[in-house]
Amino acid sequence: METLGGARPKVLCTRHLPDAVLARLAAAVDLDWQRADTPLSREELLRRVAPVEGLVVMPGETVDAELLDAAPHLRAVATVSVGYDHVDVAECTRRAVAVGNTPGVLTDATADLTIALLLGVARRLVEAHEAVVTGRWPAWDPNFMLGRDLVGATLGIVGLGRIGTAVATRARAFKMEIVATARRPRAVEGVRIVDLDELLARSDFVSLHVALAPETRHLIGAAQLARMRPDAVLINTARGAVVDQAALTAALQSGTIAGAGLDVFEEEPIAPDDPLCRLQNCLVLPHIGSATARTRVAMADLAVDNLLAALGGAPMPNPVVARP
Ligand code: DGY
Repeated sequence: METLGGARPKVLCTRHLPDAVLARLAAAVDLDWQRADTPLSREELLRRVAPVEGLVVMPGETVDAELLDAAPHLRAVATVSVGYDHVDVAECTRRAVAVGNTPGVLTDATADLTIALLLGVARRLVEAHEAVVTGRWPAWDPNFMLGRDLVGATLGIVGLGRIGTAVATRARAFKMEIVATARRPRAVEGVRIVDLDELLARSDFVSLHVALAPETRHLIGAAQLARMRPDAVLINTARGAVVDQAALTAALQSGTIAGAGLDVFEEEPIAPDDPLCRLQNCLVLPHIGSATARTRVAMADLAVDNLLAALGGAPMPNPVVARP
C-alpha cells in the first residue's frame, strides 16, 4: 500500500492489538503503536496523530474536532468496538475522514456476559463467594443466600438489535418471558414488543442494549427507575451514560429497585470508592462484555480491515455513517 508520494501510509494504533493482527497491519503500513499496556495520555495522542493518515482507536478515546485539527493528514479512523459514541462521526464526515466499527463479531460474547451478570445478581454469586472465602458459610441452611429464579421471570430488553436479540435467544432457554423495545420493531421468536413504560413496569430484569446517542443519554433516570418494580434488577452492558448513575445509586440505596449488574459506567474506570462499588446489591465489572480472546482478535481484525480498505481507497467493510 502506497500514498501518492510512494511511501506507505502512516498509521497510529493506540493499543497493542493481538500480535497476529498487529503484524498484518505493520506489514501494510508505516505503523506507530502504543507498546505499553496503558492508554496514551490525551496530550501524547494529539502529538502522535500529527503525521498519520490512519488511526486505530479504542472505546473511550475521543476523536473530535480537536483531534482532527491535530491530525491534518487523517483519512480513516477504525474503532475496535461496535459502539462509536467516542467518535464525532459528523465532524469526521465533514473532513472526508472515513469511520468504521466492529459490529457482529462481539454479539455472542456480550450476550453471554449479560446473562452472566443476570445470573450473578439473581443468585448473589459475589456475596456467596465472599461468604465462602471469608469463613461466613455456617452450614447448609435452608434460608442462606436465597436468590431469584429466572424461569418464569420477565426480562425486559431495551433495544432489540443484534445483542438484544442474542440475549433474547439465551433468555428463552431459561424459560423467561421476554418483552422488548425496538427502534425498528420486527418479529423475534418469543419476544413481545412493548413501549418503555410498560417494559419498566412489568419486568423482573431490565437489560439495556441501546447505543449511546443524544436521545439515549440518561434514558434510564430517576423517573424510569421509579417506574420499575421494587424487586427489579437493572443490567447494563451497553454504555454507562445510558443510565443516570447518580439516580441509579440513589435507587439502589433506597430500595427503589432491588439490584443492578453493571459492566459499563459514566466514567471509566469507575473509582473503587464509588458508592456503586460498595453496595451489596450491585455487581460491577470492568467493561468486559466483548472480552474473550477469540472475540478480541475478531474485533481487531475487523478494525484493521476497515482501516486498510479506506487507506487503499476502497469502502470500509463496516462503515459508520453520521446520524441525520
Ligand atoms: C463495544 O464494542 O462497543 C464494546 O463496548 C467494547 O467491548
